Amino acid sequence: MDILSLLNWRYAAKRMTGKKVPQEKIEIILESIRLSASSIGLQPYRVIVIENPIRLEQIKPIANNQTQITEASHLLVFAAWANVTEESIDEYLNLIAQERKVTLESLGSMKVFLQGLTKNTPEQNFNWAARQAYIALGTGLIAAASQEVDATPMEGFNAKALDKLLGLREKGLKSVSILPLGYRDVSQDWLVSLPKVRTPKHKFFLSF
Ligand SMILES: Cc1cc2nc3c(=O)[nH]c(=O)nc-3n(C[C@H](O)[C@H](O)[C@H](O)COP(=O)(O)O)c2cc1C
Repeated sequence: MDILSLLNWRYAAKRMTGKKVPQEKIEIILESIRLSASSIGLQPYRVIVIENPIRLEQIKPIANNQTQITEASHLLVFAAWANVTEESIDEYLNLIAQERKVTLESLGSMKVFLQGLTKNTPEQNFNWAARQAYIALGTGLIAAASQEVDATPMEGFNAKALDKLLGLREKGLKSVSILPLGYRDVSQDWLVSLPKVRTPKHKFFLSF
């Protein structure tokens, strides 16, 4: 399918069949997310991959009992950094130096720029990090469609409760969105055959 056919095919499935998504497809979706763009390339978020049915059962009530959680094959949790630390900046600079075979000294101006982030409040940095995580969520949606895997972007969950269950705060992370991956249940999902609703082009694209 071409990109527009895929984007028309995909929808936020409410019911899934429970069928497992092959590992090769999961790997492609995860790698696409890892390759997502982020501001300064810092990737100030992490993605937690959950497959264990017991864990999914625990998460379902935290997500308003939405059925996709337990009917999914895998659940991805997008969790943004709660703050930007000196340690995370150093880790990133070391990674650039290693991958691009340059000295740390040559990254001095970038270091100064990144260190500017540590002057922000934790809340400012978290909000900024969450925006980067949402770009990755969008990349994941498109990547899933490319594999003809259903994916439902979700914010309808109690982030504090999910963070507690997964011990995310201890890791300096706060969940912002979740993405069940699986296969639509055509016989049970009321949404499956309804047309997409989108703002008409003439109202959506503005030219000046
Ligand atoms: C950030 C975000 C949060 C969403 N939260 C939920 C959710 O909690 N539960 C759900 O069923 N759908 C959720 N949706 C799906 C939207 O309702 C859906 O994407 C929108 O209606 C457009 O329809 P489509 O994706 O099926 O084309 C969410 C979508 C986004 C982008």
